[in-house]
Amino acid sequence: GIENLWAMLLGYVLGSIPFGLLLTSMAGMGDVRKIGSGNIGATNVLRTGNKGLAAATLLLDLFKGFLPVFLAWRYLGETSVGFAALAAVIGHCFPVWLKFRGGKGVATLAGVCFGIAWPIGLVYAAVWIGLLALLRISSLAGMAAAVSAPVAALLTGYGQFAPYLAVIAALIMWLHRANISRLRAGTEPKVGGSAT
Ligand code: G3P
Repeated sequence: GIENLWAMLLGYVLGSIPFGLLLTSMAGMGDVRKIGSGNIGATNVLRTGNKGLAAATLLLDLFKGFLPVFLAWRYLGETSVGFAALAAVIGHCFPVWLKFRGGKGVATLAGVCFGIAWPIGLVYAAVWIGLLALLRISSLAGMAAAVSAPVAALLTGYGQFAPYLAVIAALIMWLHRANISRLRAGTEPKVGGSAT
């Protein structure tokens, strides 16, 4: 119905706000797309050396995933929630304002998961933070968290959202294909390492 269309519009518009790019350019740090991996996410913002901006990017990218899903639950009904979730991540990864070249979706999906149901968000955060602390490789931790999301939905009684989360996880894996090549070659940089 029309609610699903509203949910998608809301998700896409909020999701497509490129906070990493906005914050770094507002701070006069130039174009974050020209450094490191070229990504606009918090991991690459951290490579500018500004931890505060990286943290702000992480939180804002997370929040823009949470908000449309939360609003969909509240005002548009359960069926629209999956559409809001999918659209928020698609908005982040393919923003029309940046010629569809956006981020990789890990932080936005974290917010989406908390918006769908807190147990899914908790599993996602545990896998993400746990692996990041253990291995210090942002891409690997993010991909593992993304894959854990549909599994967590199935195991915590939110199986109706598992298909949406599985599509998002597949998209996130695909967007990390350059990271996967670097991981296989042993050249993926670590967070907080000398060559972050
Ligand atoms: O969320 C993006 C992260 O998983 C990888 O970022 O900049 O290392 O490609 P980056």
